[in-house]
Amino acid sequence: MKDMLHEITICAMTEADLEEILAIENDSYPLPWNRDHFLDELKSAHAFPLVALVSDGRIAGYICPYLLLEEGHILNVAVHRDFRGRGVGRLLVERVLRDCRAGGADYISLEVRPSNAAALALYRLLGFVETGRRRKYYENGEDAIIMEHIFEGEEAGDAV
Ligand SMILES: CC(C)(COP(=O)(O)OP(=O)(O)OC[C@H]1O[C@@H](n2cnc3c(N)ncnc32)[C@H](O)[C@@H]1OP(=O)(O)O)[C@@H](O)C(=O)NCCC(=O)NCCS
Repeated sequence: MKDMLHEITICAMTEADLEEILAIENDSYPLPWNRDHFLDELKSAHAFPLVALVSDGRIAGYICPYLLLEEGHILNVAVHRDFRGRGVGRLLVERVLRDCRAGGADYISLEVRPSNAAALALYRLLGFVETGRRRKYYENGEDAIIMEHIFEGEEAGDAV
């Protein structure tokens, strides 16, 4: 199953990717981002949105992080349904951990639904720990779990 990872390249997201990204986004979330949300990330000075490209040119997944002073943050990460469970999500988050560490981040934060078992397992695997909750953060009244990966004690080269 995981033998496709050698076919994956992580690249900077461009506007030309947005049609495919929006199809993945709409299939992944009850309240998906629209085109303008992604355009804002592409224009932001602090954001560095990335895509995971398959060797045939298809987009397997994407991630929208930003780095502002000592804080990295992951706003969005999703993998195409057909490519889930093959390590693509892990590859994307690991890349952001490395880039933020190299850019001087002390920690990376994100929000996740308590019901999102796949995302919680992925983040825990990569050293994120729960640091708080935002009450009724999501459209269905669900809380958000705040998670952080803190780099303290890690060398820049060994962030995963
Ligand atoms: C969450 C998501 C990005 C994970 O991407 P993925 O490419 O399928 O994940 P990976 O294959 O890299 O999995 C890495 C690890 O995460 C955990 N994991 C992934 N999917 C899981 C699942 N369905 N159940 C339990 N653990 C899971 C496992 O620990 C896995 O490692 P393993 O395969 O060695 O056991 C993907 O499920 C997705 O796009 N979901 C919809 C969008 C979303 O919820 N995004 C997160 C918002 S906070």
